Amino acid sequence: MRDNIQVAVRMRPLISREVEGKAVTYWNAKPPSTIYQKNSHSTIFNFDRVFEGQEENAIVYEEFCSPIVKSVIDGFNGTIFAYGQTSSGKTFTMLGDNDKNVLGIIHFTISEIFNLIQNMPEREFLLRVSYMEIYNETVRDLLSDENETLKLHEENGQIKVVGLKEHLIQEPEQMLQYMKEGECRRRTGETAMNEKSSRSHSILRMIIESGLRGAEDAAVNVSHFNLVDLAGSERARQTGAKGTRFKESININQSLLGLSRVIRQLSEKEDQFISYRDSKLTRILQNSLGGNALTAIICTVTPACLEETHSTLKFASQAKCIKNKPQVNEVLTEQALLKRYANEIKKLTEKLEATKEEKAQQNKNLQEQIEFLKKRFVSQMNPVFKTKAARRETWGGCLDAARLRRAFTSEEPFVIKESISLEDSIPKSRSRSLQNQMWSIPEEPRTVRSYSSRSQIESHDLSTLEEECEDIDAAGI
Ligand SMILES: Nc1ncnc2c1ncn2[C@@H]1O[C@H](COP(=O)(O)OP(=O)(O)OP(=O)(O)O)[C@@H](O)[C@H]1O
Ligand SMILES: [Mg+2]
Repeated sequence: MRDNIQVAVRMRPLISREVEGKAVTYWNAKPPSTIYQKNSHSTIFNFDRVFEGQEENAIVYEEFCSPIVKSVIDGFNGTIFAYGQTSSGKTFTMLGDNDKNVLGIIHFTISEIFNLIQNMPEREFLLRVSYMEIYNETVRDLLSDENETLKLHEENGQIKVVGLKEHLIQEPEQMLQYMKEGECRRRTGETAMNEKSSRSHSILRMIIESGLRGAEDAAVNVSHFNLVDLAGSERARQTGAKGTRFKESININQSLLGLSRVIRQLSEKEDQFISYRDSKLTRILQNSLGGNALTAIICTVTPACLEETHSTLKFASQAKCIKNKPQVNEVLTEQALLKRYANEIKKLTEKLEATKEEKAQQNKNLQEQIEFLKKRFVSQMNPVFKTKAARRETWGGCLDAARLRRAFTSEEPFVIKESISLEDSIPKSRSRSLQNQMWSIPEEPRTVRSYSSRSQIESHDLSTLEEECEDIDAAGI
């Protein structure tokens, strides 16, 4: 598929400076597609769309930009940029005007992107945004505090801005917040032509990835969408630029000249050398100019300038001839962040399942241990020791080896005063004989009764018991 770059011309109304200066108007716009020079019927231009002064940003968006936004959501690369001389209305068109409470193309774009996503429940999307400016031929990240100069690097035919930060976006408000942040950092300055003149080209880039929900092996569509507000060409004698402003104007004009050259080369004949490398602007926009993107250019003009508007219209005519080769960019590999995230989620889910099983096994083991230990309590319900008929019973005291020994050798009744736990006091392996021969089941748990008369233990092998006692002594119980 080959598609011409779409070109619209927007002629703004006269602004107060022009009205006060009683500016003469040279151009007439005749929507929907014609603009001509007054009193010169031979100087007539036709474009995909011509907007006149009364047509607002919302109409420009709806009629000219919206189709590109829809294609971007379907996986095509897209670019919309505003081109024109200083003070012709590029920033007004792309970013709106806060003072006049006017929203720009970028606002409408963001809103439509999120609406479209909401109406596609079968797909999941991952959105990232970056915002950069080209100021005096250096690239800067508008979403970073570090005032670093960023380098360009070519990788598989794609131009990368090394170190440019990309931010994940989940809702329109976040996107607008980043936009504001970027605008605050962008270089602007006052000139005689425009009190808030853009001194840099700004490129707001959205990277939109999407894939079918739940289809792990399906391809992911990845599209790059550039929303560009260029700085305007200017003549120093008109803007009164001096010092920094003058240096800026030289750089602006040079890079716009580079852009015009590329547009002319692309419009002339195929397979000729294209001087993308001549400026940072054409390198960054390489893909949008004669590449695989859908591109729309809004050329802004004022009716009050003859030559500058004529030159913008010539640029617009050349751009109209350029054919791009837009195609859906499908990625099957982990190059797509969405794919990487999906794989990461899969791995983590598997890990979670494994942990759950491990935990269940651990719980089972612990439960078994608890049951096992519970059985160690002495209770009526749990008769682990043999009961012996008692002739004389006394509630016992703490098991103490010396006292126990005395009990064995004395004819006096032996009394254990406090309750004890056999498990706690007697090493399990050695306590068998004591358990079997001396202790009986009490009525309550953890309480034992002793039979302390010597006659009762006559049948017991005293030496074994003494051995047990020595063991308990040695264990320090
Ligand atoms: N369509 C329009 N309707 C009403 N006012 C407009 C329109 N376009 C531009 N203006 C006004 O014209 C002035 C200059 O516009 P803007 O700053 O957008 O120009 P620009 O092309 O971005 O200039 P520069 O290249 O110097 O940045 C602003 O005051 C703006 O509000
Ligand atoms: Mg501007």
